[in-house]
Amino acid sequence: MLTIAVSKGRIYEEALPLLADAGIVPSVDPDKSRKLILPTNREDVQLVIIRAADVPTYVEYGAADLGIAGKDVLVEYEGEGLYEPLDLGIARCRLMTAGRRDVPLGARRLRVATKYLNTAKRFFARRGVQAEVIKLYGSMELAPLVGLADCIVDLVDTGNTLRANGLEPLELIMDISSRLVVNKAAMKMKHGAITELIGHLARIVSERA
Ligand code: ADP
Ligand code: PRP
Ligand code: MG
Repeated sequence: MLTIAVSKGRIYEEALPLLADAGIVPSVDPDKSRKLILPTNREDVQLVIIRAADVPTYVEYGAADLGIAGKDVLVEYEGEGLYEPLDLGIARCRLMTAGRRDVPLGARRLRVATKYLNTAKRFFARRGVQAEVIKLYGSMELAPLVGLADCIVDLVDTGNTLRANGLEPLELIMDISSRLVVNKAAMKMKHGAITELIGHLARIVSERA
């Protein structure tokens, strides 16, 4: 059995056509079911539906053989027990700093709100900027509006969320897309099935590019 960890929402939606081209079609719609293990048309493949930030954990511990996770999540996870063989090119966005243009930065120690604690700390440290990083779990764009932080580190796609809250994108931290990740032991134990799937997906991704 191959178990693939995927998060509900945008990664699932964008991964579905890729998986279908690779011959894997879930037999249950996660939006219509409370089931967390989705059987597929292939008896030897199942999907598990988890939170995006939990995908590296499931794969590192071998609870899933493979997973699909944003580069933002993988960089923040800082794990070493994973292979990352393929950029799937889906769920593309940018990890950026953002804030209010009218707030002078540098007057005091910068306060940064984000769910990407490790990544933000590393980014500002590399810049030589003294930053106090405050961990949030969502709605980061609110923090500068109510004085919780001077700026945020968050994902930007269209920029609509920033604009709607009077914030501007400031600096690019990294370009983001979703990656296929593989458990290291599974790569040995299930080598045939996993390399076949990676090869299949790699061809599909390069045909799309
Ligand atoms: P969460 O509940 O963790 O916010 P999402 O489904 O919103 O889960 O995000 C999952 C992944 O999709 C993120 O880790 C990121 O790689 C990517 N992503 C998030 N927001 C966007 C966006 N607005 N546009 C494109 N990709 C995004
Ligand atoms: C993501 C991200 C930003 C927004 C950026 O939020 O955290 O808030 O998308 O996209 P935009 O530049 O196109 O506006 P998401 O839609 O995933 O909401 P949630 O994570 O808070 O549920
Ligand atoms: Mg989100």
